[in-house]
Amino acid sequence: MKNFISVHDAGNIDSLVKQALAYKADPLKDSHLGKNKRIGLLFLNPSMRTRLSTQIAAQQLGMEAIVFNVTQDGWTMEFEEEAIMSGKAAEHVKDAAPIMGKYFDILCVRTFPSLKNKEEDYSELYIHQFIKYAGIPVVSLESATLHPLQSLTDIITITECLQAAGQDPLSAADGAGAFKKPKIVLTWAPHIKPLPQCVANSFAQWINAWGKADFVITHPEDYELDEQFTRGAYITQNQEEAIKDADFIYVKNWSAYQDYGKLYSNDPEWMLTNEKLAATNKAKIMHCLPVRRNVELSDEILDGPSSIVTQQASNRIWAAQTVLSQILNRNNRI
Ligand code: CP
Repeated sequence: MKNFISVHDAGNIDSLVKQALAYKADPLKDSHLGKNKRIGLLFLNPSMRTRLSTQIAAQQLGMEAIVFNVTQDGWTMEFEEEAIMSGKAAEHVKDAAPIMGKYFDILCVRTFPSLKNKEEDYSELYIHQFIKYAGIPVVSLESATLHPLQSLTDIITITECLQAAGQDPLSAADGAGAFKKPKIVLTWAPHIKPLPQCVANSFAQWINAWGKADFVITHPEDYELDEQFTRGAYITQNQEEAIKDADFIYVKNWSAYQDYGKLYSNDPEWMLTNEKLAATNKAKIMHCLPVRRNVELSDEILDGPSSIVTQQASNRIWAAQTVLSQILNRNNRI
């Protein structure tokens, strides 16, 4: 693995899941892999889980992790080529990234979309400029349109739950045993402000690439996601129909993609309740967090037995450790 910015960098997803579960069973088994290596974690936007889990993952591989909160502590960065820098930005990525390439062995970056300029956000300008100018492997800690470490985590978590229920997608990969595809539903949920489409795009991209689920997406009118990520899923505006017999429900708000960044209907009826879950196959409820309680998801679900959000967030460590180890192993070979 050279960089990690989308499912296209993942190779075989089940192999990554297997490796992640092996790290979960024995966190320090590769504690010398990253000895004398340094990882930079750049945050242009806030984070709790991604920051902590990636630091822990790096440390468990023996790496030194340095966090840099760019927006709080650094110079405002310019990303456009040939920009006339007479505005707020004091430093061009062209100048900053090569320096980071000298300081670090791996560079991890979190950036959010503007939600104002669809073309610019969906070109992934920021993450591509870091790849272009840093000269070292780049890992996305969530970009303008995708959140691949979250999505790998989500498939690890789904696999764990299926294994606990006697259904092993990893054995299915080897052609052994009967494996019944779970029904996985991605449902839009209300929120108080427009959020990026990253988590939803990325979850759709990974579940489609994984190919081991009956995948359904449900959202109100005007919240269609970019087809490049959703193609392969059954899409409906009827949440009740979507969640019937579901095994997993992924809850997430996103703003409009077509009328970019807009917040349309914010119908509280789209928030899941235990009453709605009665029609599911005892569905496990997922959310990447942070979550707005009693807006996106009800207390009764988050505090009840269906919720696997804490398990899911704790698995962020193993996803990050797997990705970093893949990059370290490749670099050790070349
Ligand atoms: N899910 C997630 O990325 O959480 P943070 O924003 O706290 O990192």
